[in-house]
Amino acid sequence: MTEEISHNRELWNGVNTAFTDRDGERRWLEPDLRWGLFARPESELVLLGDVAGLDVVELGCGTAGLSAWLARHGARPVGVDLSPAQLRTARRCQRRWGPEFPLVEADGEQVPLRSAVADLVVSEHGVGAWCEPERWVPEAARLLRPGGRLVFMTNSLLSALCVPDDPGPAGDRLLRGVDDVRTVRWDGGGVEHHPGHGEWVGVLGRSGFTVDALHELRPPVGAVDPEWYEIVSARWAGRWPAEDIWVARRTG
Ligand SMILES: C[S@@+](CC[C@H](N)C(=O)[O-])C[C@H]1O[C@@H](n2cnc3c(N)ncnc32)[C@H](O)[C@@H]1O
Repeated sequence: MTEEISHNRELWNGVNTAFTDRDGERRWLEPDLRWGLFARPESELVLLGDVAGLDVVELGCGTAGLSAWLARHGARPVGVDLSPAQLRTARRCQRRWGPEFPLVEADGEQVPLRSAVADLVVSEHGVGAWCEPERWVPEAARLLRPGGRLVFMTNSLLSALCVPDDPGPAGDRLLRGVDDVRTVRWDGGGVEHHPGHGEWVGVLGRSGFTVDALHELRPPVGAVDPEWYEIVSARWAGRWPAEDIWVARRTG
């Protein structure tokens, strides 16, 4: 494990204790799948569609509310995450509320699963920011069967350019250049990767994917500011997209 990966592992163990252990329980029980900072419902966005019968790998599953939703809708998910604390919360939710499905403690850049095991690889603010694209995107391609889909959400490049060094929400000024956030170690935070759209298209293409869509999400009218991951306000994200969702198919 690289120093960056083990740093992020410690960070997420701490975030779990501070926030997501409690939040994860609530998210597990949500009847609809909620995407991102402003909890946009899957029933409205229809990014995954009918998942019944699909083999799915969720990379950076965290407390695995998304995989729980998949399992309740007839899919066979496997959740993969680096943080033992996040997976502990997921296991507790499985025991308390069901459904049960496999959870694997591993780095999304090197997943200990066989090739071609999945029809869908999904990640909601998981590997998109926390892993090196040149390593995790080919790994997602390896896990997918031909024709399988990759759907992942990550922070927009623009939000990474505008977030201040002190913790706090993004303002209306560019505070750094694109090269500064391609790989960035935030003060007191983790190591993240924020390529531009052109680079995403390049790495997806080289890894055998065809891009079907890029959704630049905006909050709904009346959205409230995120509770604990306050990188942008609802007002900011209403003016500039703060979150991207990529939808791609393994064609190569
Ligand atoms: C924002 S959280 C995930 C949110 C998730 N959708 C949920 O509902 O809990 C990011 C997750 O990525 C995980 N992560 C960070 N680096 C990772 C890596 N290299 N491999 C796998 N997971 C990683 C963290 O442990 C954390 O659980």
